[in-house]
Amino acid sequence: MTLRAVRILQEAPVWLAPKGRKNGSSSALQIAAAQVATTDKTIVELHFPMKKVRLGQVPDPELQAGWEAAAEAVLGHLVSGRDVAFPTLGDPALYSTAFYLLATLQQRHPEVQVTIIPGITAMAACSANVGAPLGLGDDVVSIVPAVFDDERLRDILTRVDAVVLMKVHRRLAPVVALLDELGLTDHAVLIERCGMADQRIYTDVREALGRELHYFTTMLIRRRPVGSGLAIHEECAEGRRAVCGEVV
Ligand SMILES: C[S@@+](CC[C@H](N)C(=O)[O-])C[C@H]1O[C@@H](n2cnc3c(N)ncnc32)[C@H](O)[C@@H]1O
Repeated sequence: MTLRAVRILQEAPVWLAPKGRKNGSSSALQIAAAQVATTDKTIVELHFPMKKVRLGQVPDPELQAGWEAAAEAVLGHLVSGRDVAFPTLGDPALYSTAFYLLATLQQRHPEVQVTIIPGITAMAACSANVGAPLGLGDDVVSIVPAVFDDERLRDILTRVDAVVLMKVHRRLAPVVALLDELGLTDHAVLIERCGMADQRIYTDVREALGRELHYFTTMLIRRRPVGSGLAIHEECAEGRRAVCGEVV
């Protein structure tokens, strides 16, 4: 988490945290609570069903109801004079419930003031933990949610230099079949539960086939190998070691 996120979470008396399963718990809350004391906080976990959203189409009614209930919950605390924080995984601008909630809130209550705190994306954390860049030089990078159709992914994989494949946990077999067909299997790395105690990195993505992967799984694919993953280290060696060391 960033220092700014920690400060805002410390200041906000109310945290509303998203969870994907009705009877489950909020991962975002667990991560936030590991960094900021929660003893004097009002904490509410809100259920947002894990359903596909296709922009431009009418959202699933259950999802819509979740966003509306959350917007009303936020407003309820605001009218009683208490600021609300909504911790979410990584960055709120990247496939996050936070932005659907924000859109619903702004539509219904445009007077509400919102501050968005940028977060550290899963792809940035994965990139750091495998020591591979997301994009270098003239690389074109695509971020793709793996839950949609394979034809679109095939097209992307043949056109761009690097792909970040998110939500890949239940789609590994067809994705690896596609990578095999395109000769890219050895250009991919899979990171499960990045940054957590049981983080797992599959440098051979075939080894993950048949395993029950956690939802927190991301694949990084580079068409052009970084002949110089080493270039970064060389740069460190040439006097920027402290900066690189800090980032890692
Ligand atoms: C709903 S998206 C949230 C993305 C998030 N807003 C971000 O900035 O990265 C969930 C996806 O993020 C990725 N993800 C989130 N946490 C992760 C982790 N700890 N390790 C690997 N991938 C993760 C996975 O691809 C997962 O399916």
